[in-house]
Amino acid sequence: MNLDKMMSVEQMQRGAVRRLPKMVSDFLDGGALDETTLRRNREAYEAVSLRQRVLVNLERIDPMTTVLGHGYDVPMIVSPMGLLTVCHPDADVAIAAAARAAGSLMVHSPWSGVSIEETFEAAGGRMWEQIAFWRQPGETDQHLSRARNLGVDTIVVAGDVAVSSKRERDLRHGTSMPPKPPVRDVLDVALHPRWVTRWLTGRKMTWGTYAISGRPIKMSEMERWMESNGGNTRATWDDVAELRRRWDGRLLVKGIMTPEDAELALHHGADGVFVSNHGGRQFDGQPGTLDVLPAIAEAVNGRGAVIVDGGVRRGSDIVTAIAAGADLVAGGRPFAYGLAAGGRAGVERVFEILLDELRTAMGSVGSTQISDLGAHVMNGGSHPPGRPAVHQ
Ligand SMILES: Cc1cc2nc3c(=O)[nH]c(=O)nc-3n(C[C@H](O)[C@H](O)[C@H](O)COP(=O)(O)O)c2cc1C
Repeated sequence: MNLDKMMSVEQMQRGAVRRLPKMVSDFLDGGALDETTLRRNREAYEAVSLRQRVLVNLERIDPMTTVLGHGYDVPMIVSPMGLLTVCHPDADVAIAAAARAAGSLMVHSPWSGVSIEETFEAAGGRMWEQIAFWRQPGETDQHLSRARNLGVDTIVVAGDVAVSSKRERDLRHGTSMPPKPPVRDVLDVALHPRWVTRWLTGRKMTWGTYAISGRPIKMSEMERWMESNGGNTRATWDDVAELRRRWDGRLLVKGIMTPEDAELALHHGADGVFVSNHGGRQFDGQPGTLDVLPAIAEAVNGRGAVIVDGGVRRGSDIVTAIAAGADLVAGGRPFAYGLAAGGRAGVERVFEILLDELRTAMGSVGSTQISDLGAHVMNGGSHPPGRPAVHQ
């Protein structure tokens, strides 16, 4: 695939879909129930229009920013994603290396098929770690210790995974671990021999960071391990407070969709909030993230970092999200498409596309600095005025 010819994230998505069996591309693209929230994430950006300004000196457009002690060459990071091994055997290693090369970073998921240590190395230390409250607290403790031993400086608490989600596309494909696909999927997989070869010769499917008695968890054991650990319905803000006491680094909470929860996160010691509806994959029927971002940013009011993901596909979406109150923007699927379409080079190309579009969008609204972006660049202006960015 000629990655240089890829002009947009959407084109990269088409490239990814061609390379992947339908059961895998549906796993990537799908959302919960009727996928209303998944659509709303995009519709919210499409509903915004930006205000063109002209004859501004645009000789130096600088998309760099500093948030929570990290400098970013592009204000977009990679959201945590589990089981990317199904897209490409290099999975998190490719994404971490590409993010580092782009002057960004990735958040490594506890559901990843690559271990925290291997990913951290590929990331050259530019990596945040997601922490889940497993039902067996010892597993969470061990994960935290491993993050601390590596020198990870920021953890992202998985806030929105207490109840299971129903993704009907996955159910139709029998996408479990190990997969139990219907015959039509077996035939479809057979029509993707390159993917099959990679699957057979590449990295084995495991829960990268976790082990049973010191050995990697086999594919046939993954579901059982997740059943005994995932879906911790007892986790509450008290657990966040406890984590805060035990973790000296930065702590963010992901899955924040209301000002009340943003307030609770800060109250329990978080350094910021990750506004996210899990890309519409968990709870269908709630708003798009851009719909709730301004009110959350207003509630946070500079007391912590505000990061947002969900539906960002263009550089102009990055401008919109920052103008609506985000300090940093994040994305999942765009980078997974790049990975599936072209491994590390594909992810690098996605960063290039977004950075190029971002520069154009910044120039078009007459802003040469990320810190210049605010509600004034949007038509309608119902959003609150820009609040102090978190340059800690
Ligand atoms: C394949 C896939 C796996 C994901 N795994 C996780 C995960 O392990 N933890 C998590 O908090 N969110 C997970 N998410 C959600 C992303 O972190 C992110 O919130 C979402 O993808 C943002 O929407 P976007 O894909 O439109 O950018 C996953 C998303 C995808 C597409």
